[in-house]
Amino acid sequence: MDKNKNEKMEAIVSLAKRRGFIYQGSEVYGGLSGTWDFGPLGVSLKRNIMNLWWKMFVQDREDMYGIDAAILMNQKVWKASGHVDTFTDPLVECNNCHSRLRADHLLKDFANDSHGLIHEEFSNTLESLKSNMDTFKPACPVCGKQDWSEPRTFNMMFKTHVGPVDDESSVSYLRPETAQGIFTNYKNVLDSFYPDLPFGLAQQGKAFRNEISPRDFIFRSREFEQMEIEYFIDPANWETEFNKWVGLVHDWTDALGLPAENVHELEVPEADRAHYSKRTIDFEFDFPIGREELLGLAYRTDFDLGNIQREAGKNMEYTVKGTNTKFIPHVIEPSFGVERAMMAVLSAAYTEDEVNGEKRVYLKLPEHLAPVKYAISPLLKNKPELVAKAREVYDILKKKHGNVMWDDNGNIGKRYRRQDEIGTPFCVVIDFETLEDEAVTIRDRDTTEQKRVKITDL
Ligand code: GLY
Repeated sequence: MDKNKNEKMEAIVSLAKRRGFIYQGSEVYGGLSGTWDFGPLGVSLKRNIMNLWWKMFVQDREDMYGIDAAILMNQKVWKASGHVDTFTDPLVECNNCHSRLRADHLLKDFANDSHGLIHEEFSNTLESLKSNMDTFKPACPVCGKQDWSEPRTFNMMFKTHVGPVDDESSVSYLRPETAQGIFTNYKNVLDSFYPDLPFGLAQQGKAFRNEISPRDFIFRSREFEQMEIEYFIDPANWETEFNKWVGLVHDWTDALGLPAENVHELEVPEADRAHYSKRTIDFEFDFPIGREELLGLAYRTDFDLGNIQREAGKNMEYTVKGTNTKFIPHVIEPSFGVERAMMAVLSAAYTEDEVNGEKRVYLKLPEHLAPVKYAISPLLKNKPELVAKAREVYDILKKKHGNVMWDDNGNIGKRYRRQDEIGTPFCVVIDFETLEDEAVTIRDRDTTEQKRVKITDL
């Protein structure tokens, strides 16, 4: 049974809230647009994704170094990186209701809503947005009028002041990408560890963008988590290294359990690439909201290290060992968004089927990502001998796996449905037979099949 796209998205949002994965930020006070809070199951899913990434790209590799840089950085970082001048989105204002929206989103929605009448691939340069807004005059989604201001650029960085004085010298920004914390530490790591090229620095952490119109659940929010790698290379090898990363990105989407047929590579044309990139592939996923960017792979050249060398006056060169050959390394940057990965995982996992003539909703999460791996239940909660035995099994599995849940609420059928909905792969039930044969019933989420297993074999 396949729901239509919006219905599926709504079902996921509602499940995520109801079952304690994701809540609107500041909800009790009416919310704060573009912010989301992760509940007990959401934080567990998020950590499972982040830990998988760290293991795959840092711990399991010899050529990768992890770092964790401060979110607040010297304002010179963002001037040198080009973010102060160019990290912008195109803003238009409705002349009637004064809603401020993104011109590129209005045009994209307009093309999608035209039911095939136009197949416009809109470019995001200001001039072409201007001319397309004039030509197509999309209706304001708030008031319906078609009267827009000219598109202008809007800088997406959150500005703040560091210290007790509010003047130009104390300006700082919440980082809009974690990448700069890597570039500014490249030399430190080079001096501490003397790695050979190629090598990479990896970082996970919060990033902030003052989105003009955050939308689509956790897909586009103002505060989010990134996982980024800057992979330092000899520029002579950039194409080979870039292609290796294309393969590694697919390994990652496989590890998330995303069907390969729903992951697509988009070669980003020059006009739409970020200011620092000479080649970008966006990896897109078929979300319920449509095909959208899941993560990006960019060839950032020596843009950032070159800027640091020039603006900070510090030598960023790498010396090839045993030679006098020196150069500023180039960089391949795979940049992953955690919330987008979560949304893709939830979308791929959301399944409806029928069991014994009844509709069932379950999350077919890969075992290694499921927030709860085993739910442990005594068949009846008012039988102390069953509860005691179930506690014994719970303790054994908790020690072994950690992500184990005690569940004795309602009848067994209801417990199965609840665990299905949060994607628990296995429910373990302790019944009167267990007291005799030291075996339990394990019920499989996907097949709903049950089998008896000795406690010692769990
Ligand atoms: N560092 C690339 C990005 O934040 O998109």
